[in-house]
Amino acid sequence: MRLQNKVCVITGAGSGMGQVAAEMFAREGGKVAVLELNEEAGRETALQIRKAGGSAEFIRCNVADEKSVKSAIEKTVQTFGKIDVLYNNAGIMPPDDVSVINTSVEVWDRVWDVNVKGIFLMCKYVIPEMMKRQKGSIINIASFVAFMGCSVPQDAYTASKGAVVSLTKSLAIQFRPRGIRSNAICPGPIETPLLTEWLVKDEEARHVRLSRQPSGRFGKPEDIVHCAIYLASDESDWTNGSIIHVDGGITCNYF
Ligand SMILES: NC(=O)c1ccc[n+]([C@@H]2O[C@H](COP(=O)([O-])OP(=O)(O)OC[C@H]3O[C@@H](n4cnc5c(N)ncnc54)[C@H](O)[C@@H]3O)[C@@H](O)[C@H]2O)c1
Repeated sequence: MRLQNKVCVITGAGSGMGQVAAEMFAREGGKVAVLELNEEAGRETALQIRKAGGSAEFIRCNVADEKSVKSAIEKTVQTFGKIDVLYNNAGIMPPDDVSVINTSVEVWDRVWDVNVKGIFLMCKYVIPEMMKRQKGSIINIASFVAFMGCSVPQDAYTASKGAVVSLTKSLAIQFRPRGIRSNAICPGPIETPLLTEWLVKDEEARHVRLSRQPSGRFGKPEDIVHCAIYLASDESDWTNGSIIHVDGGITCNYF
């Protein structure tokens, strides 16, 4: 198994890609700390993993809140003894995040609090734990939108994912000499609750997006998690500071 006995902290693991990541990491032998704001969803993810014979604990965490992150990391270390992998997956994309001229400051701040400050806080408390053992892998979930403009703007979200890319590179340079690798995955449109609630029910929007997707389909959470398992495992020991597009080829599309 590729993640045997690795303690993996996954944020936003109650839904979508985070939930599938928790399940697939556990099947690879990982011990999963399910960090989630939604208590019911987080408990359910951990329960299903244990029912399937894996190792997982739900730990309530709001990644945007410093006290909550500090306490969740302390509980993770008390429970599992160490942290090998930090998978910063939690993110939000609210419908009232639109163009800069129509987005409220409240919405802008809410998006950045989760998508950017959340990663800052998780790194702030997890990296010192990793440094004790001079080993660790950080996986940040950015997005293809960090590299492409969109005629249906979500400017706070788009800018926040650009920040995730930049922060990943800075972490990669600072902490690789201490044994800690940092990489980002940029998913294309993936069929999860986050996307389906916003887009996929709208036939026209679905058609426009698929017409630009050379693979002819939206992604599945598993498409992203296969890449994350590589980054979490020791197979990726020389992969650091990489911004990996897993998007069916959509970012290559000129039209
Ligand atoms: N779905 C897509 O098409 C797509 C594409 C590119 C990038 N992404 C990114 O992938 C990541 C996962 O997206 P998804 O589609 O699986 O979303 P999702 O909405 O299905 O799941 C996100 C999870 O994060 C949790 N969460 C939200 N705020 C939180 C907080 N403050 N603290 C802790 N947990 C919190 C939610 O409760 C939820 O369980 C996000 O960062 C998203 O921006 C998604």
